[in-house]
Amino acid sequence: MEIKVVQADESQRKPKPTDETKLGFGEILADHMFLVDYEAGKGWFDARIEPYGDIAVDPAAMALHYGQEIFEGLKAFRGNDGGIRLFRARENYIRLNLSAQRLCMPEVDVDLAMEGMKQLILLDRDWVPRSHGTSLYIRPTMFATEPHLGVRISTAYLFFIIIGPVGAYYKEGLNPIKIYVEDFYVRAAIGGTGEAKTAGNYASSLLAAEEAKKKGFTQVMWLDAAERKYVEEVGTMNMFFLVDDEVITAPLTGSILPGITRDSVIQIVKDWGMKMSERSLSIDEVIEAARGGRLKEAFGTGTAAVISPVGQITYKGDDHIVAGGKMGELSQRLYDEIVGMQYGEKPDPYGWVERID
Ligand code: COI
Repeated sequence: MEIKVVQADESQRKPKPTDETKLGFGEILADHMFLVDYEAGKGWFDARIEPYGDIAVDPAAMALHYGQEIFEGLKAFRGNDGGIRLFRARENYIRLNLSAQRLCMPEVDVDLAMEGMKQLILLDRDWVPRSHGTSLYIRPTMFATEPHLGVRISTAYLFFIIIGPVGAYYKEGLNPIKIYVEDFYVRAAIGGTGEAKTAGNYASSLLAAEEAKKKGFTQVMWLDAAERKYVEEVGTMNMFFLVDDEVITAPLTGSILPGITRDSVIQIVKDWGMKMSERSLSIDEVIEAARGGRLKEAFGTGTAAVISPVGQITYKGDDHIVAGGKMGELSQRLYDEIVGMQYGEKPDPYGWVERID
């Protein structure tokens, strides 16, 4: 399908951030966006890149009422050599299509989405920041647009991609964050939509996150819905624990997000010859290991969060300091390895990185 391009005129262009050290997350968006429409019986049509701006949505659009919305998050990196690189980008669109299946939405054409995204990034290439620790965040999104108030599957959708420069996701940067183990609210149950990247999962997490924030925590760690016993994930990240010499992360049983950074960490840790286990881990085991000095490190993984060390885990009123409240050796080594590949500074034996400019 041809992608029609309408470039922003001078009056539609926005000022670019002047101080990259002050870039937060998700506050600044670039000059253009990519869009494609879908109608049942017709398929995807009208692929286009336009100046970034408002989109008209019918108040009866089904996404607003029944929540058919899915999204992705990925990044483009500018290395010291000036090159712009993507990291495992195709896998984000494959995962988007798994989310689409779960939410009864149409699958996107992965090649079209990749092509639209690349053209968009190249058109807005001056928006890809240059400093280490910054990147261009890419947010592919799809939602139901059909105006209809009965509960059923929508017959019309809009898929779009917006992009913008970002720095660290957490204000702590690489400093360890404090995590509150949530033992009342749950994020997702097996059989629900936990493994899909859909708005509702995030909406249902807000109340617990807000209560934890008021108590001084950065994020909530979720436990399983059935027993409130096993560690699932943290708001925007998958979780890893280093207990003695075993690296442990929760298995993909359907209630947690199959993270691409999670998968990268698993492969790298295995290739480093360490013991890597995808297994159920109870919060009691984590706390016992922390008490016994055997919990060496804890960290979260995610596209936005990269590798985020956890310096404190609080469960049932008790604080447990992890790795002396500092970034552990393994977390730092993984961060350096993954970020090094993303910026084209370290070899990429996995073929994860694609240079586009
Ligand atoms: C990401 O890591 O890209 C995410 O989508 C997490 C969050 C910002 C929702």
